[in-house]
Amino acid sequence: MSDRKTARDSFTEMTELVLPQHGNVIGTAFGGTVLSWIDICGAIAAQRHCNRVAVTAAIDEVSFLAPIRVGDVVVLTARLNAAFRTSMEVHVEVKVEEALTAHRRRCVDAFMTFVAIDESGSTCPVPTLVAESADDERRAAEAAERRAARLKKR
Ligand SMILES: CC(C)(COP(=O)(O)OP(=O)(O)OC[C@H]1O[C@@H](n2cnc3c(N)ncnc32)[C@H](O)[C@@H]1OP(=O)(O)O)[C@@H](O)C(=O)NCCC(=O)NCCS
Repeated sequence: MSDRKTARDSFTEMTELVLPQHGNVIGTAFGGTVLSWIDICGAIAAQRHCNRVAVTAAIDEVSFLAPIRVGDVVVLTARLNAAFRTSMEVHVEVKVEEALTAHRRRCVDAFMTFVAIDESGSTCPVPTLVAESADDERRAAEAAERRAARLKKR
């Protein structure tokens, strides 16, 4: 396993079709179902980065910006913003893909923290995240600020 990885190495995309069992009485998706997809997509990206089991330590405030309806195709993407010692910040975005135009409309996004766990169940160090662009550097700096605020609240 490499001890240095880029965000491209763990980038994850997941597509879901919103079925009737995912909906509420007004025909939009249950928030809890969408949260569970967010958790799964984020965890896959974190696990791809650390090649370990990664547990969810925190989910920052989540805003549902636009409704997701039964019948919609939902595309989730997860991208590593920063790797700290044993924890990683992952940004998950949820978009609805319009069937006719393939245009993707942003519905939800979330910043999540995952922690790598070893075979004995203890937290363990994760590979360094190598920045490949100014955007990567900006994301890492912003993630470090969010982490400081998160840990202060803990
Ligand atoms: C997350 C967990 C592993 C942290 O364990 P811990 O004994 O508190 O470990 P530490 O204090 O050494 O923290 C380990 C890392 O987690 C980070 N962390 C812990 N709690 C955090 C929080 N609320 N928000 C953000 N990061 C957090 C720490 O900053 C540290 O990161 P670093 O090594 O990169 O500096 C532990 O609290 C746990 O197992 N929680 C349950 C996770 C779970 O089951 N999730 C599924 C949802 S049910």
